[in-house]
Amino acid sequence: MAIFPENLAELARGTKGFMPTKEGLALFDLASAIPSTLSGPIVEIGSYCGLSTIYLGEAARQTGRSMLTVDHHRGSEEMHPPSPYFDQSVIDPVTKRVDTLPFLRRTLELSELESVVTVAIGDSAVVAGLVADPIACLFIDGGHGALQEWVDYASWADKITVGGLLLIHDVFEDEKDGGRPPFEIYTAAVASKQFATFTKDMGSLRALRRVS
Ligand SMILES: C[S@@+](CC[C@H](N)C(=O)[O-])C[C@H]1O[C@@H](n2cnc3c(N)ncnc32)[C@H](O)[C@@H]1O
Repeated sequence: MAIFPENLAELARGTKGFMPTKEGLALFDLASAIPSTLSGPIVEIGSYCGLSTIYLGEAARQTGRSMLTVDHHRGSEEMHPPSPYFDQSVIDPVTKRVDTLPFLRRTLELSELESVVTVAIGDSAVVAGLVADPIACLFIDGGHGALQEWVDYASWADKITVGGLLLIHDVFEDEKDGGRPPFEIYTAAVASKQFATFTKDMGSLRALRRVS
């Protein structure tokens, strides 16, 4: 069984982001267990400051896989004032806009994952159009608005190779616990019969395997 290093656990504890430790470790376990016979990178939609990237990137490093993390670094619609998810410290002092890229770069340098993780700065759907080859794992944690979740799912899910993983964050069956779009794409993936769900207790993280 793969072991997540203590120095990265400590780095994760000090990194801004939206990935509880339990779910991050589940990401690491799931990505580490992708069979080596499946080629292709791990792709993350929604890098933010690199918290979830630490877990997926370390799994990639330990299994000899590459990783692509995608973000325009301008923040999701729910990360601007007056949202409680707004963080003044990610505002560029000159442009006055959200810019999380410097935080991601720092996280990748401190985790020594720069040679494993390639950073794509841009809109998720545009980057998807530039990625032609199959991928082994897709983690969707980008914009959580109704349109953006569907765009991410529609742009990327078909690229997952049979046997590969679709991981979706912030899936809440009860709308009192959180927004609907991640639950809606999770439900659509199951209904498509292209994906089969397999889960243990992973908080709001859901894992599906591509079966056809
Ligand atoms: C919930 S945060 C990601 C959290 C991160 N995975 C973590 O562990 O902390 C969502 C991110 O998606 C990015 N995002 C939103 N819409 C996007 C789009 N259309 N293309 C690329 N990135 C997008 C935002 O800039 C934001 O950084």
